[in-house]
Amino acid sequence: MSRLIITGKRELHGEIPVQGAKNGVLPLMASSLLSHGVTVIDNCPDLTDVRAALDILRHLGCRAALEKGAVTVDASDVTCCEIPDALMRRMRSSVMFLGPLLARCGRAVITAPGGCELGPRPIDLHLAAMAALGADVREEDGSLVLTAGRLTGAPIRLALPSVGATENAMLAAAGAEGVTVITGAAREPEIRDLGALLTKMGVRVHGAGTSTVTVEGGVKAPFARHRALPDRIAAATYLCCAAAAGGELTLTNTDPDDLRPVLAALDRMGAALKTTGDTVTAAVHGPLRSPGTVVTGPHPGFPTDAQPLLMAAALRAEGTTAFVENIFENRFRHVPALRAMGADIAVEGRGALVRGGVPLHGARVEATDLRGGAALVAAALAAEGVTDLGGLAHIDRGYENLAGLLHSVGAGIERIDGKEPERWKTTEGRKTPAAREPAST
Ligand code: UD1
Repeated sequence: MSRLIITGKRELHGEIPVQGAKNGVLPLMASSLLSHGVTVIDNCPDLTDVRAALDILRHLGCRAALEKGAVTVDASDVTCCEIPDALMRRMRSSVMFLGPLLARCGRAVITAPGGCELGPRPIDLHLAAMAALGADVREEDGSLVLTAGRLTGAPIRLALPSVGATENAMLAAAGAEGVTVITGAAREPEIRDLGALLTKMGVRVHGAGTSTVTVEGGVKAPFARHRALPDRIAAATYLCCAAAAGGELTLTNTDPDDLRPVLAALDRMGAALKTTGDTVTAAVHGPLRSPGTVVTGPHPGFPTDAQPLLMAAALRAEGTTAFVENIFENRFRHVPALRAMGADIAVEGRGALVRGGVPLHGARVEATDLRGGAALVAAALAAEGVTDLGGLAHIDRGYENLAGLLHSVGAGIERIDGKEPERWKTTEGRKTPAAREPAST
């Protein structure tokens, strides 16, 4: 069992290169199914979610590999149109294969996708989009069976701007005959990036990244190569770590434009920010102040994925910060662990009130989801003493070498894989960092 041992109160100084975007790469990998040739995706992080996507592609008959930051998929032969439950459950983005699989094979059999538990995460909008393109959707023995002789372009009106449903609709439309116009589409940067790869594959795409996306089906190119965009949530993570720990951190391989709402919040908190075309530097010296009220919303609103991270940074800011979570019902699961570290946070429904400036202390805590887990790392950097963090499988889904990168800029962070060393066990047999007895575990 792996754990992170984090000694807080050490400033961060230096440079971190930001990984390629997890949420961008996964739909890009799914799009490779539409090609009868080879697709190469550069700037691909080595994550368990990426490995899960590779396993799905291989299961479907593709040759797929991740080497030196590039995923190569040869989809000349797709021999199967069914994704077994065990593969579906490994991540939320397994549902991304539905659209391209259906377009490619005329049939797709899936079960409910996995992913972080953030409240109900239905896929009704994905299914409605497939039905609009002519698919017959039915449930058989706990599986969803979709069939279509040939998908046909059609208008698709999304009832809410779902990122995944927009991507799935674009992917299915790219393999359909004729023109599809998606209205009410999500506008996240990852959708713009998917449009860029589909264009390289020979599909005519207009408006990807705006609320109306037009796709004229037909993959023509036998080979396409694309560099995935930088991960804006990983960038937000490192910036919030710098805000929590103090110091001066420069992120390279990033896109400040896509980070605007996060940078605006950090600016309100008093971080000194400098940006160039592909770097962001955050200098945090002395106390921070509350950013006021932070309301999550679809892009270009404040990203829900960055909410737990900014909350961790807000713990050391003077004043009260209010968070309103508008995207997911259950996105405060990191709060009990933050409280175990001394945080003063009240939660009611979709709102959380953080009283900042209260001293934090190390504790033995567990990550319960991906971004909430990263938020615990940020909080631990601000805490007095040692934090012993488990549940790393959640964090490994979305971050490549989080501990190594933070360590390289001065954080007191060490990853312990496998059996815990004796020094982390107390005489009562209760496992806890010996360096400091946490007030609460
Ligand atoms: C994606 C991101 C996730 C991010 C989220 C919102 C990936 C792999 N994940 O998730 O990190 O937090 O966008 O920015 O890219 N909904 C429905 N029916 C549907 C689909 C969604 O009701 O068929 C609802 C969801 O329950 C949620 C809201 O729409 O309340 C937004 O979800 P959506 O944008 O689809 O998120 P994901 O694509 O799952």
